[in-house]
Amino acid sequence: MKDEVGFAVVGCGVIGRTHADQAVSCEGAYLAAVVDEAPERAQAFARRYGVPGYSNLEEVLQREDIDVVTVATPSGAHGDVAMRAARAGKHVIVEKPIEVTLEKANAMIAVCRENGVKLCVVSQHRFDPSTIAVKRHIDEGRFGKMLLGEATVHWYRSQAYYDSGDWRGTWKLDGGGALMNQSIHTIDLLQHLMGPVERIYAHAGTFNHERIEVEDAAVAVLRFRGGGIGTIVGTTLAYPGLSARVEVFGESGTAVIDGDRLTHLYVRSQEATGGSSYGDQAAVNKATTVGEVGSAAADPSAVSGGGHAAQFIDMIQAIREDREPLVNGAEGKKPLAIILGIYESARTGREVHLPL
Ligand SMILES: NC(=O)c1ccc[n+]([C@@H]2O[C@H](COP(=O)([O-])OP(=O)(O)OC[C@H]3O[C@@H](n4cnc5c(N)ncnc54)[C@H](O)[C@@H]3O)[C@@H](O)[C@H]2O)c1
Repeated sequence: MKDEVGFAVVGCGVIGRTHADQAVSCEGAYLAAVVDEAPERAQAFARRYGVPGYSNLEEVLQREDIDVVTVATPSGAHGDVAMRAARAGKHVIVEKPIEVTLEKANAMIAVCRENGVKLCVVSQHRFDPSTIAVKRHIDEGRFGKMLLGEATVHWYRSQAYYDSGDWRGTWKLDGGGALMNQSIHTIDLLQHLMGPVERIYAHAGTFNHERIEVEDAAVAVLRFRGGGIGTIVGTTLAYPGLSARVEVFGESGTAVIDGDRLTHLYVRSQEATGGSSYGDQAAVNKATTVGEVGSAAADPSAVSGGGHAAQFIDMIQAIREDREPLVNGAEGKKPLAIILGIYESARTGREVHLPL
């Protein structure tokens, strides 16, 4: 294995910039090429980063100095790029959602496995210090059984945002709306902390946008396989946009992550079994506040690079150690399956059982 891992970024748009920035700044990585089907976009990135720009993916895939292809194209174009890269022997980092159907997601996972390359799906908030802290407490048993979990994404996207790209707000290329594009991070954190979802009942619709095919608001009621219940509320009609929240409650602990910050973390100590009927303040661990991050509540380009950096570093280490990246294809499929289940329930009016 050579000292540094060569990256090619495919898709020179909003998040492609974060990918290119990470490939430039992550230790052990270098940016080798940028690709966009629109030549002027590829060239603009090429000038900005001082690397060759391509509009033909095949030319890049032939380059032996490229080890990892990152896929930052519209969501419904992830699979095609990822599978072509995998067949050329390149490892793949793909943006969320992994793809817009389970069939394509499964095909990507299979092609990467058959070609012996690693597949990493971006879910950068799993790497936030707040998420890592809560997950550790849950995994170490301090919350007991997980009973109730809520994911709330009251975000705002204007009609102009949807009009800014012809793929935005379409079923074919965005794969959905407020849930598939914006709320997927928070939904992923909910299932990461609460465990797998077993049953879903949902409503969804387009309430305050004119030229989009997909939902701008959805609500879902969940039952988790571990026995707990929960809700998901995801919207892009909440002007001007509030911070996304994940709230989880176990037998002996509560955590709230608001706008990526851990605002409440309460774990009942072993001695304090009684407590007052209004809560046991003696057993409350002081709430911890962790670093500020950019807010995407109203501004889609305000994605802090921190989580992406952690995922890029994890992928580089996974390649070096020949292990799976922390968010591999199977992990990346989990929030997709929940969202597709919500859409199916909203469409049919029936409760949907997972796996689909
Ligand atoms: N992780 C996050 O926080 C985050 C944030 C924003 C977007 N995203 C995801 O990133 C993806 C891209 O979103 P965006 O907002 O950057 O989109 P964008 O429209 O700004 O950029 C997409 C780029 O891909 C190019 N493109 C389209 N099809 C292509 C193909 N087949 N081959 C090469 N280039 C192609 C387009 O010309 C465009 O330049 C989406 O899947 C989105 O869900 C993730």
